[in-house]
Amino acid sequence: MKKFFVLLIAALLWTTIPAQAELVNDSFASTTARIEEFYSTLPQAKGDYKVRQRPILIQGAMNVETDVLIHALKNPVAYRELNYLFVAGTYKNYPVVVVRTEEGLANAAASTVLAIRKFNPVAVINQGTAGGYDINLHVGDIVVGSLSVDTSAIKTAYSPAGSGIDFTRQEMFGTYAFDESSGNFQPYSEYHADTTLFNMAFAVANTHGNFNVVSGTIGTSGSWNNNVDYINFLREKYGTSCEDMETNAVAQICHTAGIPFLGIRVISNSAVTGEKFSVESATVAQNFVLLVVEDYVNKILRASKS
Ligand code: 5AD
Repeated sequence: MKKFFVLLIAALLWTTIPAQAELVNDSFASTTARIEEFYSTLPQAKGDYKVRQRPILIQGAMNVETDVLIHALKNPVAYRELNYLFVAGTYKNYPVVVVRTEEGLANAAASTVLAIRKFNPVAVINQGTAGGYDINLHVGDIVVGSLSVDTSAIKTAYSPAGSGIDFTRQEMFGTYAFDESSGNFQPYSEYHADTTLFNMAFAVANTHGNFNVVSGTIGTSGSWNNNVDYINFLREKYGTSCEDMETNAVAQICHTAGIPFLGIRVISNSAVTGEKFSVESATVAQNFVLLVVEDYVNKILRASKS
C-alpha cells in the first residue's frame, strides 16, 4: 500500500514538474494567449464612434502592454481598423480609447493615424516596455519622455570599401514632420513632450510614492540593441535613457497632427545591468498611466470645460 502511494506521488511529480517549468518559460506566450482570448469576448463595434468629448488615446504595442488598460475600461467596445485593435470605453467617466499598435515604428505610426481619423483624440499617450540604457535604471523604473529621438534616423560618415564598420561616425538625420511656420514637412532630430501631460506625470509620481519615475529621452528604432558599447555610445551621443520601437514614430505623427503627446516607458530589461525581460513590468507602466489619465481628465480636461 505504502509503495503504491510513493509511486503515485512520484507519478504526480513527474507530470506536474515539467508542466510548471514549461509555464515559466512560456509565461509570455501563455499570458498573451489568455489576453487575446479575453479580447475576442469584447462586444464588436458597429458603425462610427460617437461621443460628446474627445477621447484620450492610450497606446501599447503588445497584449501584455494593453491588458491592464483594457480591463480598466467601462463598457469596452472593440473596433478593428486594418486589423489593428482599438477598444473604446470610459475611464473615470471620461472617454478613453486603448489601441494595440503592434510592434515597431510603422505599425505605431499607422495605428496612430487610423486612431486620429476615427476617434479624434484630445491627447495621445504612448506607453510600454523598454530596454534600459542607464546603469541606475532597473526593471520596473519608469522613464517619462521629455524628448524622443529616432536613433536609426542617422547618416553615417563616408568610409571606403574594406575600411571596416564604425557606427560611431554618424550624425542625426531626423524624421520628417509638418512644421506649421513653414507649411512644409521638415526634419526633426527630436520631439518634445506636451508640457501639461509631462508635468502631470511628475505630479502623479510625487503623490504616489510607489513608482520610481525619472525624466529622460526615449530612443526609438527598429532594433533591439544588446551591444553595450553601442548602447553607451547612443546614450552619450543622444542622451537616451532607454530604447523602444514606437515612441518617436507616434511623437512624429502627433507633431504633424498638432495633438499633445507623451511617451511613458517602463524598464523591462537592460543589457547594461544584465536584467532580462520581465513581463510583469508592463503592468507597472499601465497602472502609472491610468493615474496620469485620471489627473489629466480631472485637472485639465474637465477644468477647461467649466
Ligand atoms: N529594445 C527595443 N525594444 C524594446 N521593447 C522592450 N525592450 C526593448 C529593447 N531592449 C519594446 C519595444 C517593442 C517590443 C519588442 O518591446 O517597444 O514593442
